[in-house]
Amino acid sequence: MSDQIESILHEARVFPPPAEFSAQANVKAEDYQRMMEKAASDHVGFWADLAREKISWHTPFTVTLDDSNAPHYRWFSDGQLNVSYNCLDRHLAEREEKTAIIFESDAGDVTTYTYKELFDEVGRFANALKNLGVQTGDRVIIYMPMIPQAVIAMQACARIGAIHSVVFGGFSAEALKDRIHDAGAKVVITADGGRRGGKVVPLKAAVDQALESGGHCVEKVVVYQHTGEAVEMKATRDLWWHEAERGMPDYCDPVMVDSEHPLFLLYTSGSTGKPKGIQHSSGGYLLNAIITNEWVFDLKDEDIFWCTADVGWITGHTYVAYGPLALGKTIVMFEGVPTYPDAGRFWQMCERHGVTVFYTAPTAIRALMKFGDEIPNQYDLSKLRLLGTVGEPINPEAWMWYYRVIGKERCPIVDTWWQTETGAHMIAPLPGITPLKPGSCTLPLPGIDAAVVDEAGNEIPHGNGGYLVIRKPWPSMLRTVWGDDQRYVDTYWAKFNNRYYVAGDSARRDEDGYFWIMGRIDDVLNVSGHRLGTMEIESALVAHEQVAEAAVVGRPHEVKGEAIVAFVVLKGEIPTGSQRDALVQTLRNWVAKEIGPIAKPDDIRFGSNLPKTRSGKIMRRLLRAIARGERITQDTSTLENPQILEQFMQK
Ligand code: PRX
Repeated sequence: MSDQIESILHEARVFPPPAEFSAQANVKAEDYQRMMEKAASDHVGFWADLAREKISWHTPFTVTLDDSNAPHYRWFSDGQLNVSYNCLDRHLAEREEKTAIIFESDAGDVTTYTYKELFDEVGRFANALKNLGVQTGDRVIIYMPMIPQAVIAMQACARIGAIHSVVFGGFSAEALKDRIHDAGAKVVITADGGRRGGKVVPLKAAVDQALESGGHCVEKVVVYQHTGEAVEMKATRDLWWHEAERGMPDYCDPVMVDSEHPLFLLYTSGSTGKPKGIQHSSGGYLLNAIITNEWVFDLKDEDIFWCTADVGWITGHTYVAYGPLALGKTIVMFEGVPTYPDAGRFWQMCERHGVTVFYTAPTAIRALMKFGDEIPNQYDLSKLRLLGTVGEPINPEAWMWYYRVIGKERCPIVDTWWQTETGAHMIAPLPGITPLKPGSCTLPLPGIDAAVVDEAGNEIPHGNGGYLVIRKPWPSMLRTVWGDDQRYVDTYWAKFNNRYYVAGDSARRDEDGYFWIMGRIDDVLNVSGHRLGTMEIESALVAHEQVAEAAVVGRPHEVKGEAIVAFVVLKGEIPTGSQRDALVQTLRNWVAKEIGPIAKPDDIRFGSNLPKTRSGKIMRRLLRAIARGERITQDTSTLENPQILEQFMQK
């Protein structure tokens, strides 16, 4: 009997917040009640109050939400502000000497910046950019290692109203080139190289390669000297960061921009081959960045907040470069990887810097969990008080390990659901209030109207899966896809006649209304927390001279979340033996070159044709079954060429 009860309890594990945590939390039960009521009765007024309270406006807004051209919503549109002013200048009176950034290099060297130092660095570099001819509205590509200069470059762009687009340093020259072209960038900011896991990543060389074929508008390439490795500098185009700054004053007047002025573009994968430039605003974006750091991460003045995401992803924007700084808090930045010099690196850094709030991805947790408890147990993790995860559903086993071994059963875990497009957390626990269930991102934040709906857009009963949608606009929502308004409407709004934002995820709610994210509904893979479009990888494969056709699907993977399986039809004969192995290797490296190492297929299978219906549609569900090694039980009667399934089953 008691066993039975145990197992039932085990299935429905719920972790209420510890009383001590609740007592000190930024959002307490009564605040939550008040906020939920206000948001329900006056959605627009709710956001207006927050925007007035949290942002330093240069010109206060009078229009909160302009929905006259929906789904192109505009927030606080007649207000003016500067995001960098909000992150730096407004803290100087009280926090000049407070540490803004603690940076640890790959090799373990530590550098810190106070708010005043960061303010000066940003001002000087902003002046340098201006001096190079960068103007408000110009696009600047930032292709940097995870070092403070990446944040300085972002903040400097924000300071002068230039629109930055950070490209993850792990992307290839080819991927960088597409983004440079699509954004119409005038300047590229990079470094000679980065260091990760003891190896040098040659960033400048990739920039050279991306620019070499021409057809772009890049006038200048600014290169931060970081590794000291030799790089080629092109006489009129390239200059060193320190040269660009020579003679520049520390102070740069912040340019006040309209609230809707684009703060940045960030490219992300969709279900077609071409990445989308997700366009974010200034005022609306900043607001959700601020409140989620305050509500979900419960940030306090004495906190040391470490979000391990690279600035190349949205997480590194909202929870590294902008949100915590807008609150005047202290962040940790780390250039390296979690397993170098050994799998204790994260925990060693938590101890060394006294990290109190730690935010990472389930894939990292799973990877580190494999090394066992002894490694984290060697470090003093007693300063930690709150843990977070993002990027994909966390499996309960990893959640429990994180909770037990890292958080010592003291620290709430905030599992935060959001996207590049949403700008900030949407569905996430409030750590002082929300009882936690391992694997669920729990409940929507105040002001966020998330729902699970059926094909007709009707909310479905709890317990069933459906489309995850957001039914009311929110300030940090994406504004459009850069240069492609139609794609914005088609991708995110058309499905339910422009009424709801369609996240592209499926989800279900349980009997308590908790959200459980089930995965993507489009052809997007989630590999180590990175979104990759299957079409993007397919296009890369087909670009290889030996490949005629390719289809890519995901397969569950215990560390990465999903592994990439590619089904390839060659132009010539299918090779055998070592030649086959060599071709697999060639194609994997080819994809790494075209997109980046994160997109390398884990498994490549060859066949003389892809399984298609008589109307020529690739039958992906069959490929998924083959990728998982499942027996084909599905109906194959519509399949034109059943015999090729056998071929693809062979490794
Ligand atoms: O599928 C969801 C998954 O990641 C997607 C968004 O990816 P991206 O734009 O790259 O942003 C990642 C960081 C915000 C979502 O559509 N996802 C993100 N967070 C979670 C998640 N799935 C489940 N639980 C989460 N906490």
